[in-house]
Parts: sequence; C-alpha cells; structure tokens
Amino acid sequence: MQIHFLPDNRTVELSAGESLLTAARRAGVELAAPCNGAGVCGKCLVRVAAGQSAPLGKSRHFAPAGSLLACETTAVSDLTVEIPRKKETGLQIHNHGATIEVELAPAIRKHYDGANTQIFAGAELLGTEAGDTTARVFGAVIDIGTTTLAVGIIDLLTGEEAAGATGLNPQTSYAQDVLGRIHFASGDGGLAILQSAVVAALNALIGEAADAAKIDTAQIYEAVVSGNTCMLQLALGLDPAPLGRHPYAPFFAGNETRPAAGLRIAPFGQIYAPPNIAGHIGADIVSGIVATDLAARRGTTLFVDIGTNGEMVVAQDGKMVGASTAAGPAFEGMNIACGMRAAAGAIERVNIEGENFQLRVIGDAPPVGICGSGLMDLVGELARCGVIDGGGRLGGNRDPNAYAAKILAERGRRVDGKARLTVADAVYLSQKDLRQVQLAKGAIRAGVDLLLKNAGVAAAAVDEVIIAGSFGYHLRAESLLNLGLLPRELAGKISFAGNTSKSGARLFLLNHAERARAAALARAVRAVNLAEDESFQTVFIAAMAFPAARE
Ligand code: FES
Repeated sequence: MQIHFLPDNRTVELSAGESLLTAARRAGVELAAPCNGAGVCGKCLVRVAAGQSAPLGKSRHFAPAGSLLACETTAVSDLTVEIPRKKETGLQIHNHGATIEVELAPAIRKHYDGANTQIFAGAELLGTEAGDTTARVFGAVIDIGTTTLAVGIIDLLTGEEAAGATGLNPQTSYAQDVLGRIHFASGDGGLAILQSAVVAALNALIGEAADAAKIDTAQIYEAVVSGNTCMLQLALGLDPAPLGRHPYAPFFAGNETRPAAGLRIAPFGQIYAPPNIAGHIGADIVSGIVATDLAARRGTTLFVDIGTNGEMVVAQDGKMVGASTAAGPAFEGMNIACGMRAAAGAIERVNIEGENFQLRVIGDAPPVGICGSGLMDLVGELARCGVIDGGGRLGGNRDPNAYAAKILAERGRRVDGKARLTVADAVYLSQKDLRQVQLAKGAIRAGVDLLLKNAGVAAAAVDEVIIAGSFGYHLRAESLLNLGLLPRELAGKISFAGNTSKSGARLFLLNHAERARAAALARAVRAVNLAEDESFQTVFIAAMAFPAARE
C-alpha cells in the first residue's frame, strides 16, 4: 500500500500489519514518538485525510476525535496521512549555569609566522590559515541533554560567550529516555539514525550562534561536548548497548579528544569529551562537580541534576559518592494528557491560595497545556492542600479541609469513570498523570534517600542542596518539598545552579589543566549502582507517596 504524508509530500510503501509510525520513519518524516511506538505517550497523533486505516490491536491510549495514534494504526488501502505541525514557540531552555573562575589557558593557540597562522592544540599542529588570523580564536561548548541541547560559542582570547543557542534533542522523536534510546540504537541502523539526528541539530545550533555572533564556524577550533554517558556515546557513534544491561560496562571513559566527526567547526578542529564516572553517571555530572567546586566545599553538599535522567552526588568535605535513577519523561511534560514542553501557552507556575488557582503561562498566552515545572508546582500544591492523598488519589482524603473540598467540588469530575481535575479551560490533570508524576518524583527521591544512606548521611545533616540542570532551573524549592521529591529536612538549604553541564564544559575549554583535574575528580567519586540495590523497589514505592497536607 502507498502511504502519502502531508505536509511533507512524501510517499512510501507499507506492508500489511506495519504501523503508520514505521511508514513515517521510512519516509524520513518527522513524527514525535517519545515512547517509540509503545502506545503510552499519546504523542504520535496523525489524521487520515483519504483511504482506509485499521487499528493494530487494542488501543492503549486515548486519541482526540478525528486523530489516530500512528503507532497503533495500519492501512487497509492507499492512504493520505496528515501530520499536525504544531510549532512550539518561545521554548524555554536554560543556557547558563553556575561557574568558578579559572585562568585563561586554553588548549587551542595560534602562532603567526609573518605569512601564515598555525593553529595548535597543545603541541599538536591542527592546521594552518593564510595571513594573520590570531585575533579570532573560538571554541564551542555543547551540552547534550536527553531532551534538550545547549550550545555556546566562546572567544578563547577573552573567555566570554559570544553567543549561544538552544533546542530540542531530536532523538526524543525516536525515544524519550535513556533506556529507550539504547533500545532504539540496537535496532537496524538505529545508532546511525540517532547520531546523525543529534549531529545535524548541533550543527544547526552552532550555525545559529555563529550567525548571531558574526563568526565564521571555520574559526571554531575545538568543541567540548558534555552530557550523560549514553548521550555522549550516541553523539560519537559508539554503541550504547552495554549501558542497558548488567554490569553496565564497558562504557566510554571520556577525557579524550577526537577529530571533529561531522561537527560544523574548523575541518581540522577537534572535540574534547570530558570524563564519565560510570555508565550511569556521565560527564555532565563531572562538569557540574567542577563548575560548582563541589569537592572543595566544606560540610555536606547534595548535588542533584534533575531531568529525564536524575543524576546525583553527595560530597562530604570532598569525599564524593554518586548515583543515578531514571526519572522518565513526566518532567518534560511527556506521557501527560495535557503535557507539553516549556513553550508559549504552557502553564509553568501554579499557586493555590484558598480555592483559587494562580497560573503563570509562558508568553502570557492563553493556557493550552502544562510543562514539567508547572506540573511539579501543581501536584506539589495539590498535596499541600490535601486535594490528593498520600497515595496520590484525587479526592482520596476522607476528611479534606474546606478549601480542598471546594476545589474538588468546583474542578473535580469523572470522565470514562476516571477522576480529573480542571486546571484551566483547555487543561486538566488526570489520575493517570498523577501516577506519572509519582513515578518520576519517586525515582529521584529514592535515588536521594539511597545515596544518602550509602554515604552514611542523614538528610538533616546535609548543609546544602544544589539543583542543577536546564529543567531543574525552572523548579521551585517549595514544590520539590511539597512533592516529597526532596526530604522536608532540606528546607531552606536548596539553591539552583542552572545548566552546569554546559558551564563546566566551558571551564575545560578555557583552561586545559582543568581536564586532568576533572579526570582525577571523576575517579574519586564512588559510583553506586542503584539498579543493583535490593532495597531499591521498597524505597521507591515509599518515595512515591506524597507528604501529608500542610495548611
Ligand atoms: S509513539 Fe505512539 S503512543 Fe507513543
């Protein structure tokens, strides 16, 4: 059967029993499928404009009227399929992070011999340019997140960021989380698809930043690429399969330079990949440890990079223990009925005063959905007000306070027998959404509890908590406590450091010696693999509970 896709105007053959998602991928048509066809995310929505389609087995997810899930639909005749192109505007991705000051001593240097300019990385000659080009020496810092990408072009003569750009990691269209990517990469051509997708997106961002700074990308001689171990391996075209199974090794140790590998910088330029700590604790955390000077802090500091993949380190006067847990896509608004990225129209802040909901919407646009930070706020507020009980049930409290009862009476309803809460005209929270939030926050909390236990630290003994990550930057300390994502004992000790994966990468670009220091710090972190901890499941289930209501 012939499947014709609009608006891309592409046609492919589809065999009986194959899904429209398979057809879209075969046609090279972009179609978001964060759950990689598992039928749970509800994001692969299409409209059949002509021809006859049929469901593939039992539908596992609700599709709005007139739409179908491409991963759950096949064709019984030639089809014309429309893919809705909803452009997300005003996407909020945090592009900066806390940092320390370092002496300007980059690996890259130039020498003009009176006729030409040689470009060196340390003692190694990388290339030559005609004339005297010593006044223009640039590098790039790159953070490859599981969901977002951040790029900065740095002037290596001043250390200043000339311009930056951010965007989505297009790999999310194939699989939303790390395990999903490992699985996709193990399929036919999967690794090449994921590598070329992310390199193409990075090149577009490098181009965008270079244009903004009026810089020729050929004068960017080195790129420092930070991210978790899996993201780095995918970007370098290294098979991530061992990261998905015990003993989660070998993994790419990092702390090495490689040729530019298709990146849009000087053709003879190089990539530096910082050290990884373990298969599940990557260079993004090492960058964060260096950027926040974690090892030099006195007392006990908990560092948590909150995102689709939650990575964390506890440092006690320099002694460090690290771990990570898979939080899943709820933090990015995925697998959430009205979930969306942090773009225009997304509810990003929720405050409940009495029975009134105060909403802040990105771009001051009419609310059309809710993003991760809005979701954390909302559920934290509902727990604080007693609208949900400890088990996460909407209206589960037998004796709700007056406000909670009023909120449930005014905003609560049942659809297809399932509880929902209206947040705004076009936005609601379902009981299933609450479960997704419980899974995500439970994973981070379980990680924190077990990490502290492994390090022999009581929560009350923690002096400081640093929340890192582009996503983490948009969160409120009070919401993290109301959700029980962090123990209440940490109240008043929480600060936000932003994108330390990127700000740490900048330090490796500006000062060559920071690389060796980072490698030593990475080796000094005792990595705990929570997937092997027998008590993880029990701790995780307890961590899914919400704290009791607080007036
Ligand atoms: S890819 Fe179809 S529901 Fe997720």
